[in-house]
Amino acid sequence: MPHVLDCEITAHQEVARGHYRLAVCCPEITAEALPGQFCMVEVRPGLHPFLRRPMSIERLFADGFSILYKVEGEGTRLLSSLPAGGTVNIQGPLGKPFPVEAAAERHICVAGGIGVAPFPALAEALIQKTGRTPEIVLAARNERMLLCEREFRQMGCRVSLATDDGSAGRKGFASDALRELSPGPGTVVYCCGPMPMMRAVHGVCAETGARCYASLEAVMACGDGVCMGCVVEANVEIEAERMVRVCSDGPVFDSTIINWSSY
Ligand SMILES: Cc1cc2nc3c(=O)[nH]c(=O)nc-3n(C[C@H](O)[C@H](O)[C@H](O)COP(=O)(O)OP(=O)(O)OC[C@H]3O[C@@H](n4cnc5c(N)ncnc54)[C@H](O)[C@@H]3O)c2cc1C
Ligand code: FES
Repeated sequence: MPHVLDCEITAHQEVARGHYRLAVCCPEITAEALPGQFCMVEVRPGLHPFLRRPMSIERLFADGFSILYKVEGEGTRLLSSLPAGGTVNIQGPLGKPFPVEAAAERHICVAGGIGVAPFPALAEALIQKTGRTPEIVLAARNERMLLCEREFRQMGCRVSLATDDGSAGRKGFASDALRELSPGPGTVVYCCGPMPMMRAVHGVCAETGARCYASLEAVMACGDGVCMGCVVEANVEIEAERMVRVCSDGPVFDSTIINWSSY
């Protein structure tokens, strides 16, 4: 059962325009959380907004964790106003984590924009559990929207950059940058970002024989498998439906399970 707890906000700061990192002290959730899992955050106490907002666990510390988020609408705008020293109510950990494939020759994390959020924790776990340092592809609209580059370099990761306008790294898409790294059958690729980006990354992996795990986003209500508000089309039948729930069957899926044709 996930915990539902008031957590002390230990740090909260803007890290790029409209992007924030919020760290909480919460030993109970931290002790059980794994990279790729998420939590549901109450952005303001009370009934408005009614729904919690799903946020990936960015990094795990001794007795707490951080989330990294982009202000999209009212919920995240309210969240950005919570002060350090106050509390925030969090439900978690939720969902299925990234599998850590120790036998793989290479691990490559491919992030589009704020899709980078779950990868610092994953990179740390890969280093710790496999002894190999993952390669990172960071893609964003422009240089200012590239997040966590310094953190990945500090971990010793090789980082490839791609921007839409060419202001940093190669001008082009995350999937182009991934192709340049020549993934192969011994490679595991993890991706998170906009659905069209992940569809393209899935395509590169299908061509090159790399295994691919995608962390999907969907608008969520319950976050816990009950409301069916977060379903996406699948290629396989699960309980007589060609649908999967992002919150409880995922958010991390083997990319071959997802029907990418509508993205
Ligand atoms: C498993 C999971 C993990 C996530 N992790 C992160 C994270 O680590 N950092 C982060 O910044 N965001 C993350 N998101 C997306 C985040 O939950 C939404 O951006 C947020 O709920 C928007 O709330 P809002 O009230 O600010 O915007 P709203 O007013 O609800 O919506 C504003 C805009 O954002 C879009 N939107 C709303 N919810 C989502 C969603 N779930 N996914 C994509 N677009 C959405 C709406 O369609 C609308 O265009 C995650 C989503 C999921 C499902
Ligand atoms: S959000 Fe309710 S089932 Fe996924």
